[in-house]
Amino acid sequence: MKLSDRVLNLAESATMAVSGRAAQLRREGKDIVSFGAGEPDFDTPDHIKQAAIDALQGGATKYATPSSGIIPLKEAVAAKLSRENSLDYDPSQVIVSVGGKEALYLAFATLLDEGDEVIIPAPYWVSYPEQAALCGGVPVYILGDVSNSFKITPAQLESAITPRTKAFVFNSPSNPGGFLYTPAEVDALAAVLEGKDIAVFSDEMYDRIIFGDETFKSYATASAHAYDHTITFNAGSKTYAMTGWRVGYAAGPADIIKGMAKIQTQTTSGTFTFGQHGLVAALNGDQACVEEMRQEFQVRANHIHARLNALDGVTCPRPSGSFYAFPDVSGTFAKLGVSGSIEFAQRLLEDSHVAVVPGEAFGVDSGVRLSFATSMEMIDKGLDRLESFLA
Ligand SMILES: Cc1ncc(COP(=O)(O)O)c(C=O)c1O
Repeated sequence: MKLSDRVLNLAESATMAVSGRAAQLRREGKDIVSFGAGEPDFDTPDHIKQAAIDALQGGATKYATPSSGIIPLKEAVAAKLSRENSLDYDPSQVIVSVGGKEALYLAFATLLDEGDEVIIPAPYWVSYPEQAALCGGVPVYILGDVSNSFKITPAQLESAITPRTKAFVFNSPSNPGGFLYTPAEVDALAAVLEGKDIAVFSDEMYDRIIFGDETFKSYATASAHAYDHTITFNAGSKTYAMTGWRVGYAAGPADIIKGMAKIQTQTTSGTFTFGQHGLVAALNGDQACVEEMRQEFQVRANHIHARLNALDGVTCPRPSGSFYAFPDVSGTFAKLGVSGSIEFAQRLLEDSHVAVVPGEAFGVDSGVRLSFATSMEMIDKGLDRLESFLA
């Protein structure tokens, strides 16, 4: 039977080839060092697990009511956004979702009509263009420059806008490189969109993993207009090491959140009830666990950044947050005789048994992504091998 054009047009993940091959080599007994992880290497803190266990044993086994999220979680999200992000939302402006990913998809589905353009800075998180396209949208890419930590400029944003522009996807700190826009840079981008009827998707999954004296600013705080046009996305996934729980959320203009909830009632009916109680405990509880993980990621970030920049032909912008580094490795391509990031990653895996994600998957073929959600020992082992590979 013929599959829908929607599915046929969906890109296969460019990361699959490398991760599939890495798994195969591992099965063959090869000692693979992987920089591929897209999730914290820590376990979910105990008090969060206990809250879910208590809820489960207490009978929180039915459909969530409402399906857009239990009220205590919507209240905890509203309190978090007020406390940590200076954003005031009524709990009715919050939707709870199956991870941050579902919330993003619901927002695209709520806002996009066929042919609507979505501005996406590159390198980008892999799902934005595919989700937008699934909902009839047309991705319009803006290429960041390595010399500016791959961050786009207001002039670039301005020139990407057309009468069909419906949304702008903003991700700071970013996956794949931990690139963080300063408060002044956030304001400057928001100034470009001031007065325009363009929705902003502010993906703030990494807002609690910020390094040094860098300052995080939520996009929606830039102005009253920004607040009225922004949907802020977050989840328990990265902050509390809850990736497998699939508990995320979004907050924004009431009509958009309502539209998202309407689609959710007809698709997933939201995420599982006792998991939502886990996120309530995470958001309302002691935040020491967040700081412990952040400090560990910071030590690793500094280390991996310094070591990558010491390599010939490699330029790595500083990761200001998240747990990813995205070095430009194009200066090594000629010497290695590879055509781009996919071949680079394949060769590194075959010859040196180190797995990285090719930048092609994120729309920038000059780079590769290294996740440092792995131990210092593994980081050094992998970087030693990378150093020999490039020597
Ligand atoms: C930038 C970004 N947005 C969204 C997500 C999705 O998060 P979740 O696992 O909560 O669906 C991820 C996960 O990798 C991410 O890196």
